[in-house]
Amino acid sequence: MSTSKSTNITWHEGQVSRQDREALLGQRGCTVWLTGLSGSGKSTIAVAAEKALNERGRLTYILDGDNIRHGLNSNLGFSPEDRTENIRRIGEVSKLFTDAGIIVFSSFISPYRADRDAIREIMGEGDFIEVWVDASVETCEGRDVKGLYKKARAGEIPEFTGISAPYEEPENPELVVDTNAQSVDESVGQILSYLEKNAYLG
Ligand code: ADX
Repeated sequence: MSTSKSTNITWHEGQVSRQDREALLGQRGCTVWLTGLSGSGKSTIAVAAEKALNERGRLTYILDGDNIRHGLNSNLGFSPEDRTENIRRIGEVSKLFTDAGIIVFSSFISPYRADRDAIREIMGEGDFIEVWVDASVETCEGRDVKGLYKKARAGEIPEFTGISAPYEEPENPELVVDTNAQSVDESVGQILSYLEKNAYLG
């Protein structure tokens, strides 16, 4: 799917800038992009990080694969093309939320490197923080919180990431959180220190 069908359109500037919104919020908008296998801990980490930031008075929002596929992206499946379109749309939504000054947690398997790099490309310097939530297939399958690995092994879910569809590991992510070994709190701590150190939290 492409974006080239829109013609005769003109960009319209507002009178309130991103800087104005960020000044109001006392924070810097950004997208913390959590990528990793199903069951690696992306959503759990996003929920815990959001809670911690909310308690510190920061404005956040979570965009989550399973949730977004209930609405905005309910017309997309799991073919490579649909996943690319899924991630393209969420990249654009993340960009909008970031422009609103919000700290966004985007939690999607996003298995293709090119799709993740395309988001980095459309976002400003420092707006896209790629976090590889690294857990092996063995770890995720051992957890199998949603019972999907069992179904995938039984051939009931085609093109299941890590089993019958690829996951391309990030090459230069801003952060790697190793959930094979560490607790949710430790992973959240890593992300919060990154945000703190790089002045996103005001
Ligand atoms: S992505 O690959 O396009 O980034 P996304 O993060 O939106 O995927 O959705 C992944 C979620 O959809 C998984 O956590 C799982 O609950 C569900 N799911 C259903 N079918 C599949 C599949 N074939 N591969 C991976 N996840 C699937």
